[in-house]
Amino acid sequence: MSSPTPRNVIPSAADTATLLELADASMLRHAGPIDPLLVERASGTSIWDRDGKEYLDFTSGQLCATFGHNPDALRTAILDSFSRTVHSNSYLLSEEVIRLAERLLALLPAELSKVLLLSTGSEATEVGLKAAKMATGRWESVGVSRSYHGHTGGAAAVTFLPRRIGTGPAQPGVHALPAPYCFRCPLNTSYPECGFACADVGMGLVDTQRTGDVAACIIEPVLSTGGMIEPPAGYLPHLKIRCEERGIKLVLDEAQTGLGRTGDMFAFETAGVVPDVVALSKTMGGGFPLAALAVTDEIAERAEENGLRFLTSHMNEPSMAMIGLTMLDLAEHHVAEQSAARHGEKIKGALEEMALEHQLIGDIRGRGLLLGIEWVVDADTNDPNPDAAVAIAAECRNRGLLVQVVSANIWRIAPPLTVSDDEIDRAMTIIHASIVAYLETTL
Ligand SMILES: Cc1ncc(COP(=O)(O)O)c(C=O)c1O
Repeated sequence: MSSPTPRNVIPSAADTATLLELADASMLRHAGPIDPLLVERASGTSIWDRDGKEYLDFTSGQLCATFGHNPDALRTAILDSFSRTVHSNSYLLSEEVIRLAERLLALLPAELSKVLLLSTGSEATEVGLKAAKMATGRWESVGVSRSYHGHTGGAAAVTFLPRRIGTGPAQPGVHALPAPYCFRCPLNTSYPECGFACADVGMGLVDTQRTGDVAACIIEPVLSTGGMIEPPAGYLPHLKIRCEERGIKLVLDEAQTGLGRTGDMFAFETAGVVPDVVALSKTMGGGFPLAALAVTDEIAERAEENGLRFLTSHMNEPSMAMIGLTMLDLAEHHVAEQSAARHGEKIKGALEEMALEHQLIGDIRGRGLLLGIEWVVDADTNDPNPDAAVAIAAECRNRGLLVQVVSANIWRIAPPLTVSDDEIDRAMTIIHASIVAYLETTL
């Protein structure tokens, strides 16, 4: 009998190149090429690689390290919780779980009266849409172009980004509204004269396309991954009216905006709208898999009556609820301190100065610490400049700053709310130097 082929075994003190070779041989690519940065540790605003190089992380990890990497409060909470229970059972509740639900409701408007605790943002999208469907007895939904709501089936169906390509048709009965993307208005109009034509034209198209009836319309308060698009003032209340006229429930996906990232505890507060469903995830877990959904009394009652069913192995974990309670403490502190607004203004001010010097910066936008830069060829054409976006981000990384290219020519800048003035100054110096270095390469 032939012996089995031995697997690669990682040598105990493997160097980075060896590990990357092993990764190349063993890891399924799921989101493009393997990134050569191998993380050794993370703390506060910084990540260190295996060679001891420090990077200022202006991406907050996967937008989850809201209050920095490895905050003491989260470490204490998880160790304390794990010492009692590592895993319970999705059907069983605990004091932490009940307290988190209660605490969330106390922070949300009175209209939202029931909470479900989950693990990921994709799940929150799935259940948000499902609850709206079960409550209304309808089955279609509406998303917004350039939106991102997750990668599971239902969430991917309302995500309108090029990444839909290659997996066949998404769910039937899903429609898209044009994004409220004022810098490049899809209808070539301008705000405020447009009167939110993108919402109205889009809903008009939905009216002509629907075959059953629409249960939900889902949107991010800031369309982040699709291009850091902040809808103009008044857009969300207008969209809510258009939804109400049609009996459609408005679902706000606060995966990236919740827990103080845009300044308020939740971004819908500034937008002046109370949604029918709120989905919270990434920013709420601080790096742990925790998500939550809040719905109105009416949705809860009708969805329950109609037999809403959703269950995963890790919902209602006491340890994750403990993390959530701690994250809410931190969020309340940082909202009171206006951390996102203060640091965001400082970053925007520095970028605006750079924009006066360099026409490559076409637009600086976003709210609090969820900011974006749109890189353009020049101020006359405003043509997108993906080459500059990618090259300058790469140069920043060489110099020790992580920023994310979220859409071809658009960056997201989202450091933790605990970022210091000194870290912001260092990051802005790196961005400036990276622009200069890029321009030298184009001479
Ligand atoms: C707005 C939004 N919704 C949903 C998701 C999906 O969250 P998860 O990756 O936790 O499934 C994301 C993730 O980036 C997101 O940004």
